[in-house]
Amino acid sequence: MNRKPKGRSPTRGSSGRSYRNDTGLTRQPKKMRGRKPSSQRWLTRQLNDPFVAEAKSKGFRSRAALKLAQIDDRHKLLRPGMSIVDLGCAPGGWLQVVADRCRIGIGDAKLVGIDLLETDILADVEIFVGDMTNPVMLDKVRNAVGGTAHGVLSDMAADTTGHRPTDHLRTTALLEAALHFAMEVLVDDGFFLSKCFRGGAEQSVLSIMQRNFTTVRHVKPAASRKESVESYVLATGFHGQGGWDVDSADEDADDQQSPTGENGGYSPI
Ligand SMILES: C[S@@+](CC[C@H](N)C(=O)[O-])C[C@H]1O[C@@H](n2cnc3c(N)ncnc32)[C@H](O)[C@@H]1O
Repeated sequence: MNRKPKGRSPTRGSSGRSYRNDTGLTRQPKKMRGRKPSSQRWLTRQLNDPFVAEAKSKGFRSRAALKLAQIDDRHKLLRPGMSIVDLGCAPGGWLQVVADRCRIGIGDAKLVGIDLLETDILADVEIFVGDMTNPVMLDKVRNAVGGTAHGVLSDMAADTTGHRPTDHLRTTALLEAALHFAMEVLVDDGFFLSKCFRGGAEQSVLSIMQRNFTTVRHVKPAASRKESVESYVLATGFHGQGGWDVDSADEDADDQQSPTGENGGYSPI
């Protein structure tokens, strides 16, 4: 019979997420003393998160790898032989998923990553350390992938300040920079997948996507925590006919009514 753990150990996080495991008990990290409450909550959540365990058992470097795997299982983006760029690639979970599904190292398939932080090497993958908003670094990435790519991925997130509107604006600026790069390198019918914290400011960027891709939709894989404002935006069928005009995109965004529809629409799924 399962017994309630003794003491005052929390069974739910601040978000209301239950920390109980399969046995009904909550697992607690052994060394809690001296840690800040926020760090204690993070450790407890990690220890009880089934996706952390799954990522570990599959040999992924990050839990984030499961998010890309789940998005790709559903939308079938990655195919053998593709050239892919991964912006904000450290510690390399997404690189592992792409390397496997695009068979990097075989034939023409290419994979290039960049991050502010060091990423451990991965066979046949070219990885740069640097800021992707720096044009010099972007030239290096573009050259390494051979000038064009079938897909551009971005899981970039700015360091959080704790002030939600500021964090949202910073991450949206990264989304805009990633989209700008994607529109320079994507082949016809290419795709762009990016982290996107929903909060309003991203509307003008979404509007640019709608004008340059056949379909734009929000995707929220199971491994992305329900309580998190994190989501991903997936744009497929690149044609590039809408150009890059942020001002008119802002006007479009002002006019925008909750967009829907499969073709050229923006459909939350
Ligand atoms: C959520 S992590 C990426 C996890 C990765 N997808 C994985 O599966 O392992 C976000 C990364 O974005 C990187 N990043 C943030 N701003 C960046 C920038 N301007 N240029 C390059 N990388 C950046 C951060 O250093 C961080 O490693």
